[in-house]
Amino acid sequence: MIFESHAHYDDEAFDEDRQELLGSLKNHGIDKVVNVGASLKSCEITLRLMREYPFIYGAMGVHPSETAELNEDNFAWLRAQCTCDKVVAVGEIGLDYYWKEPETSVQKMWFERQMGLAKEAGLPVIIHSRDAAKDTLDMLKALHAGEIGGVIHCYSYTKELAREYLNMDYYFGIGGVITFKNSKKLKEAVEYIPLENILLETDSPYLTPEPNRGKRNSSLNLPAVAEAIAELKGITCQEVEETTYQNACRLFRITE
Ligand code: NI
Repeated sequence: MIFESHAHYDDEAFDEDRQELLGSLKNHGIDKVVNVGASLKSCEITLRLMREYPFIYGAMGVHPSETAELNEDNFAWLRAQCTCDKVVAVGEIGLDYYWKEPETSVQKMWFERQMGLAKEAGLPVIIHSRDAAKDTLDMLKALHAGEIGGVIHCYSYTKELAREYLNMDYYFGIGGVITFKNSKKLKEAVEYIPLENILLETDSPYLTPEPNRGKRNSSLNLPAVAEAIAELKGITCQEVEETTYQNACRLFRITE
């Protein structure tokens, strides 16, 4: 059984066949999914999906590139949603310096405020960090993120930086990028990171693994990710799927 720790099934890329696709996941061994908010609208749709599908859980948060939409009023709404049943994390939140919009001071302010939401609600965080390695780590350390717990989604930094996050007992979201030929740095990091700290994720509809790279992604492609990890670590696919399933249940405090 597979735990999909990061998908965006609220995305319009799934408007045509969302019901059919989500309905088919269980038959393909995808047992649980965390649908991750990236904007206020996607949080709203995530809440609806969680209510409609027993196996879908939700994360509430606003992606750094979308933080210009936040204000005190809608932030209060976001805070209230964090106490809903089946909301298992605050995310995705963080810093994105690839797209320097909005400016970094705005991104940082809302990152800190949303970290506060997680602390207050007793939820782990899902961190988005792109081209912002130093500032992300500095902020997480300053905010005592180790006490909050979380996952670095779509981990893209070095093995050396991975050690810093392991010291905080963080998890690493690994997805389609691990199957790309040019992902040498990530492969080194994944070899180094203990399996107990890895989560499987797709970031659907983005980052489709080989051999389907470029097409729309879905959780159905996760076996290819598990296989790539298994190969790097010299273990079986089944071991990767089982351990990462337990890891996700532990991080998101899902017991059943
Ligand atoms: Ni994402």
